[in-house]
Amino acid sequence: MLTTPRGTRDFTSEEMHKRNLLLDAMKQTFLAYGYAEIQTPTFEHLELFTKKSGASIVEELYTFTDKGGRDLALRPELTAPVIRLYNEQLQVQPKPLKLFYFGNCFRYDRPQKGRYREFWQIGCELLGSDSPEAIAELIALAFHVLSDVGLKDIVLRIGQVKLLSIQVQLVKDSLKEEEKDSFDIALVLRLIDKEDFEEVEKYFYDKGCPEHVVTRFFSFLECKTSDAVAGFFHEGQQLTIVKQYQKVLGFLPDLKVDAVEVDMRIARGLDYYTGIVFEIDAPVLGAEKQLCGGGQYELIGQLGGNELASSGFAIGFDRTLLALESEQFKFTPPRLDVFIIPVTKDQLPPALRLCQELRNQKKSVDIDLLRRGIGKGLKYANSKNATFAVIIGEKEVEQNKVTLRNMSSGEQVTISSSEIINYM
Ligand code: HAM
Repeated sequence: MLTTPRGTRDFTSEEMHKRNLLLDAMKQTFLAYGYAEIQTPTFEHLELFTKKSGASIVEELYTFTDKGGRDLALRPELTAPVIRLYNEQLQVQPKPLKLFYFGNCFRYDRPQKGRYREFWQIGCELLGSDSPEAIAELIALAFHVLSDVGLKDIVLRIGQVKLLSIQVQLVKDSLKEEEKDSFDIALVLRLIDKEDFEEVEKYFYDKGCPEHVVTRFFSFLECKTSDAVAGFFHEGQQLTIVKQYQKVLGFLPDLKVDAVEVDMRIARGLDYYTGIVFEIDAPVLGAEKQLCGGGQYELIGQLGGNELASSGFAIGFDRTLLALESEQFKFTPPRLDVFIIPVTKDQLPPALRLCQELRNQKKSVDIDLLRRGIGKGLKYANSKNATFAVIIGEKEVEQNKVTLRNMSSGEQVTISSSEIINYM
């Protein structure tokens, strides 16, 4: 029997019900922050993704050549596509531009719980402001999108990749000339991103880094407050970056984000981050606990536009749902307003007419399509979580009435069909 390709999933109607509830709730929060929704294609020119990240990213991509010989890739994320769209069409729009999106992404990952080859992201890009209040608002949005949908246990960590890079550079500066050339800062950042700190330490010692420099570097990574971070920087320009970081943290309580962790170990993997970076985890998920990642980045210039302050984040939609389920979140079950039961086939015409009238009023209405009669019909109505059943028999038709049954109390009234809406 054929199955879904590795790392992809079908969604049953029960799952789609939950996904739609979650998506609607998340979209409400983006709209409340003044973001407008956009959509970009599922596949793009391969070059869009290799330009910044280099050819090595191809390993992680689904790539193909189309019949016209074009090299294309299924999108692994939406930031580069949004920036392409911005460069093509939106550069003249008033700033800041606040754009949000929801879409499927494809990565040639090793599948496991919470890690798929096709997954969905909901995210946003903020183009045209990097003031501390702009970045604080962006972080608050990420936090509230997740807390507003009902997640109880989420951890927000905020770092600064520029400060982190400066500290890695200091390690490099401490090396003997002959080791400096081969010292690979990007490799160190990648190892930090993978939280492979043992490997980082080994790499430093292999390069001949003095012990006190290694110790200093690791105590920088351990900083728990922004004042502790500030203690590692003394130069004017660097202090300005620390101050900006502190201002962002300072605005967060005003935006009702109270629990924040300073985390200098956030390196972020996608190669375009340049400033403040942040991640939100759901510890309940274990290994694949990262729900959200984002920060300040530079990509517009690289993709051919005029460089502009850019920041954004993306939330793993599937993982958010997994986290809610792990926290035993109760989703409102699917329901039906009315289930209509014509007692015999003779009552089908008035039953169908009523069905149509109620649907015109945007009530969710189903009608017995199996001619199963009252007893089985009511059982089915129950299984569909119907609020009311409408029973139409010969007697009702004669009196130009229907029997309306409240499915939870069992109470029944006989009323004219025009009264149904009022009664409900
Ligand atoms: P990212 O951290 O690569 O960032 O992805 C964001 C989120 O997508 C992750 O935190 C995770 O929840 C989810 N995710 C990633 N890979 C998978 C997977 N294989 N299966 C399930 N979920 C996954 C970005 O994509 C950036 N574009 C975010 C951004 C926007 N930065 C600036 N603007």
